[in-house]
Amino acid sequence: MKDTQKTATLTFDDKSIELPMHSPTAGPDVIDIRRLYAEGGVFTYDPGFTSTAACDSTITFIDGGKGELLHRGYPIDQLAEKSHYLEVCYLLLYGELPSAAELEEFETLVTRHTMLHEQMINFFRGFRRDAHPMAIMVGVVGAMSAFYHDSTDISDPHQREVATFRLIAKMPTIAAMAYKYTIGQPFIYPRNDLDYASNFLRMCFAVPAEDYEVDPILARAMDRIFTLHADHEQNASTSTVRLASSSGANPFACIAAGIACLWGPAHGGANQACLEMLGEIGSVDRIPEFIARAKDKDDPFRLMGFGHRVYKNFDPRAKVMKQSADEVLDLLGVENNPRLQVAKELEKQALADPYFADKKLFPNVDFYSGIILDAMGFPTSMFTPIFALARTVGWISQWKEQISDPALKIGRPRQLYMGETMRDYVNIENR
Ligand code: SDX
Repeated sequence: MKDTQKTATLTFDDKSIELPMHSPTAGPDVIDIRRLYAEGGVFTYDPGFTSTAACDSTITFIDGGKGELLHRGYPIDQLAEKSHYLEVCYLLLYGELPSAAELEEFETLVTRHTMLHEQMINFFRGFRRDAHPMAIMVGVVGAMSAFYHDSTDISDPHQREVATFRLIAKMPTIAAMAYKYTIGQPFIYPRNDLDYASNFLRMCFAVPAEDYEVDPILARAMDRIFTLHADHEQNASTSTVRLASSSGANPFACIAAGIACLWGPAHGGANQACLEMLGEIGSVDRIPEFIARAKDKDDPFRLMGFGHRVYKNFDPRAKVMKQSADEVLDLLGVENNPRLQVAKELEKQALADPYFADKKLFPNVDFYSGIILDAMGFPTSMFTPIFALARTVGWISQWKEQISDPALKIGRPRQLYMGETMRDYVNIENR
C-alpha cells in the first residue's frame, strides 16, 4: 500500500493520537488503526464492517457508486463478453491474462482433476435424499481434507497449487453429484472432451440411459454465470474463508466454511429466495402489495435480489445477467416466462419508488440469475451450489493472497462488552 504521509488525529479524553493513513490505487484512503489500542486503550466499533478494511488486496475492486466491478483491473462486462470462466480463474489466481499456451496448460490441468476420489461417493450416501445440496457440498468439500492429505500443508507452495486445482476442478463434479443424489439418479462422471461449463451441464442432466447433448448457447450462458460469480472483494463468505485460513486451517476446511456462509439468504442464498419470491408474487398485479411490504418497517419481508452493501447503483453483474436472461429464455422459447415478466415489472416499479431510490437499492447479481437457472432446468435448491461452484476460485485466490503474506496474523476481533461485570457465585439454596 502507498503511504500518504497523511495522518489522522484522534482526540478523546485527554489523549490525541496520530494515526498513519494509506492510499489505495482505487477507492477511499484508510486510517491505519493497528496502534490504536496499544496507544489509546480503546477499540473501534463496526459490527457489520461497514467502514472497516480487514485486509489489503490486489484481486478485485468494486466502485459501488458507479456500479463498477474490476478483476485485476478488467471490467466485469468486458470479461463476461470477451473472456470465459477458466480464463477469468487464471486472471484471478495469477494476476494477468494468460497467453494461449498458459491458458491451454491451465485448462488441461483443471480438466484432468475433475474426478472425485471414488471412495468419497460413500459420503453422499450418508445424506437423506431430501438433503439440501448445500448441506452436501459443505460436508463433502470439508471431507476432501480426509482424502487429499498431500495438498493440505499450506506452508508448501506446491501443495497450495495442487489444492487450488483440485478444488476448482472438482466443485462442478461435487455440485452435480449433490444434485443427482437428491433426485435419486446415478452419478454421471466428468468427461475430458468437454469444456468446464458443458461438463457441468452434462453431469447434471445426462442419464446412463440417454446422453445429454449440450446446447452451446446454454453452455455459454452457464459459463457466463460462473464468470459473473467468480469473485467479489471481501464479501461475507470470502471474509469467512480469510478468517478460517488465518488460523492455518487447510484449504478444504476453509472453502467448506465459505460454502456454509454463502448459504445464507442475505448472501448467496438470495438467488433461491428471489426466485421463490417471484413465484409467491405470481403476477404483475400483486407487485404493489409486495413493494409495500418491503417498505414496511414492521414487516421483515425484503425484496430478495435487491440491495447491496457496496453497490449503491446497478450491480454490473445484474445488467449482464438481465441480457443473458433474455437470450436464454428466447432460445428456450420461454421468453414469456411469468417470473421473468414479474421480475422486469418489479424492477421497474421498485426503481421508480422513492423508498428504493433514496436508499439506493438496485437489483443485484441474484435478481436475474435464478430466472436463467430455472429456465435451464435447475431446481431452486441448486442455485446457491452453482454460486458456490463459481465463487470457489474467488475464495481460493483470496486465500492464496492471504497465506502468502508474511505479515499474516490470526484474525481475532475484539468486542464492546455489555454483559455483567465480575460477581460471586450464589449457591442454589440462596437463589
Ligand atoms: C450477495 O457482499 C457481496 O459482495 C455479496 C455478493 C457477492 O457477490 O458476494 O454481491 C452476493 O450477497 C448479493 C446480496 C444478496 N442478498 C439479497 O438480495 C437479500 C436482500 N438484500 C438485503 O438483505 C440487503 O440489501 C443486503 C444484505 C444485501 C445488504 O444489507 P446492508 O448493506 O446491511 O444494508 P441494510 O440491511 O442496512 O439496509 C439499508 C436499508 C435498511 O433500511 P433502514 O433501516 O435504513 O430504514 O435498506 C433497506 C433496509 O431495511 N433494505 C431493503 C432491502 N435491502 C436493504 N429494503 C427492502 N428490500 C431490500 N432488499
